[in-house]
Amino acid sequence: MRHALVTGCSRGIGLAIAERLLGLADGAGSALSVTSSTPAHDDTHTEKAGRDIATDKAGRDNVKAKPAAGFSYRVSGTRCRSDFPPDLDRHDGFTGYTVDLSDHGQIERVLKALLNRDLPDVLVNNAGIFEDADFGTDDRTWLSVWDRIMTVNLRSSALLSKWFVNAHVRAGSEGIIINIASRAAYRGDTQEYAAYAASKGGMAAFTKSLARDFSRKGIVAYTVAPGFIETDMARESVRIYGEAALTSGSAFDEITQPHEVANLVAFLASGEVRHMSGSTFHINGGSYMV
Ligand SMILES: NC(=O)c1ccc[n+]([C@@H]2O[C@H](COP(=O)([O-])OP(=O)(O)OC[C@H]3O[C@@H](n4cnc5c(N)ncnc54)[C@H](OP(=O)(O)O)[C@@H]3O)[C@@H](O)[C@H]2O)c1
Repeated sequence: MRHALVTGCSRGIGLAIAERLLGLADGAGSALSVTSSTPAHDDTHTEKAGRDIATDKAGRDNVKAKPAAGFSYRVSGTRCRSDFPPDLDRHDGFTGYTVDLSDHGQIERVLKALLNRDLPDVLVNNAGIFEDADFGTDDRTWLSVWDRIMTVNLRSSALLSKWFVNAHVRAGSEGIIINIASRAAYRGDTQEYAAYAASKGGMAAFTKSLARDFSRKGIVAYTVAPGFIETDMARESVRIYGEAALTSGSAFDEITQPHEVANLVAFLASGEVRHMSGSTFHINGGSYMV
């Protein structure tokens, strides 16, 4: 069984990735049956099983959990302020950690220790923040937002990647890094979100550097660049730009769902396209095409 570390999987895209890798969701984002060691006489479990077992979007039941892209995974996942959903938290194959990625001490204490003790095969740097820093604000405020965004989005994922790479090189083993950036890395964002775009551009450049030097040592790295995906983060954009903004540039009349990003991540995690190491995978509803 393979081991994946997914940051920021309490909700949104990270949650969809964790559920997909664990076989808790199928490729259409539908919930599948839950594996739990909780004793059958436990009321909570009985209620959970009754609610969750195997109903897909078409209303079919008795759907069994399927491994993602042919592999079975156990997942180590992180959260910061939100709780993990119960179905994830209670899954046998899931271990949750609380860590604030803006705090170097916490990352080292929790995640460096994890990488030293139980090195994952796959690292998905997904956790991220989307905050505005208007050009009209004073320098101190503007820079404090820049520092926070760079620390959470770029610095923490770079540091985790460094530890992951070094541990694999030491062990002589193979690893896969998947960095969740954004289309903002490629087409920029409005001036208020320039720091966010710069942090994601940094992730893409960092990923290419990893790929150039470490692919031959067995560690491959990919960037995933999503457009608007229906999560809390995109809802923040709805608040600012209005509902129509989410699909106005899209080739679809609908916003992309997190499970499509999860499918892409599961595919990259399979190791079937190692020679695409360093590449960026754009998933943005056709809002730009490369
Ligand atoms: N949604 C989009 O439209 C979109 C588009 C392009 C790229 N992306 C990228 O995709 C990734 C996931 O986005 P999402 O839409 O799923 O976002 P989301 O719904 O806002 O979820 C963000 C996740 O990151 C975690 N997180 C936030 N700050 C953290 C911190 N300081 N320390 C540790 N974890 C932290 C959150 O944990 P808690 O909730 O526990 O605090 C949560 O699990 C991000 O990197 C984002 O930039 C999203």
